[in-house]
Amino acid sequence: MHLQHHISLKPYNTFGIDVPASAFTTIDNENQLSEIPQNQKLYMLGGGSNILLTQPIEGLVLLNRLKGITTEKESEDHVWLRVQSGEVWHWFVMQAIEKGYGGVENLALIPGTAGASPIQNIGAYGVEAKETIDEVTAWHWGEKKFVTYTNSDCKFGYRDSIFKNQLKDQVFITSVTYKLNKVPKFNTSYGAITEELEKMHVQELSVKAIADAIIAIRSSKLPNPVVIGNAGSFFKNPTITKAHYEELLKTNSQIPSYPVNETHIKVPAGWLIEQCGWKGYKEGHTGVHAKQALVLVNYGNAKGSEVWQLSEKVVQSVKERFGIELEREVQVW
Ligand code: EPU
Repeated sequence: MHLQHHISLKPYNTFGIDVPASAFTTIDNENQLSEIPQNQKLYMLGGGSNILLTQPIEGLVLLNRLKGITTEKESEDHVWLRVQSGEVWHWFVMQAIEKGYGGVENLALIPGTAGASPIQNIGAYGVEAKETIDEVTAWHWGEKKFVTYTNSDCKFGYRDSIFKNQLKDQVFITSVTYKLNKVPKFNTSYGAITEELEKMHVQELSVKAIADAIIAIRSSKLPNPVVIGNAGSFFKNPTITKAHYEELLKTNSQIPSYPVNETHIKVPAGWLIEQCGWKGYKEGHTGVHAKQALVLVNYGNAKGSEVWQLSEKVVQSVKERFGIELEREVQVW
């Protein structure tokens, strides 16, 4: 293990926040995990695309660099691919698409690593990672062994799983096995996809065509973290009661919504934030993205605390205007 001390985490988080870590090492081989000293707090870092760093990190940062994809098994209709957790998610999606395997094409261009896909149950354009995740293997720090979790063990929810709750900080995910379709079932239910496919004059649907459409939509709305620091959606889309929704409709007839169940409705946080006048707002080095109000950005040398303070103001204003308490999607360290 090559331990480094007092290094800047700026290259390792897509928000581009500059804070030091007191200790840092890379994990290149899963056998290293049993040797990690546990006398300090451990911070597990993948692509760093869903975190906001608000203070110097006192502890050991483990940067996941586990790489490799293997075919576990195949049937007539499916293939099971085991992906090491440090692989870049989009690279894995491209591998699947090249082979014509279906299931993850709607999730193209999501930043981060494969290992983060079950933690967040990443989702976009009508599809969530839980639909293809077969099992997750992780090193359990307390039990000092590798444990495999089935799809149902993972307790997936909207941007949620057991890894954000009971198993938070308890495990280091080492690989994820995805069950992909050899005969793809296309999901173009999200309106923007059909529009984009038409614009691209696509005659015949394929996983490649869908991924191309998704890449075009995402690129037009979401800031590229290489250019402007950000962590994708900063907030979750809130779920409210139908009664609350109907009350809001009286004064906001345009409010978009997605049904959740008989009693609840999801509303887009981006819409609520835009209505409160934040879209395109700038304050010092931080701001609210001009094309998607759900994304907070770092225009240069923002401190994590500045981004946090801006997020507090956004939460407060949405609460005052709509009576809805926004929840952050990013993890705050
Ligand atoms: N909207 C606005 N103003 C905005 C942004 C959105 O009015 O500034 C409205 C849109 O017009 C649309 C609705 O809100 O009616 C939904 O917008 P969009 O399709 O852009 O999706 P979203 O709900 O804002 C979610 C995910 C994204 C994912 C997209 C596409 C969450 C928190 N975010 O965003 O995921 O890419 O859907 O499926 O669920 C992420 O998690 O980091 C992420 C980017």
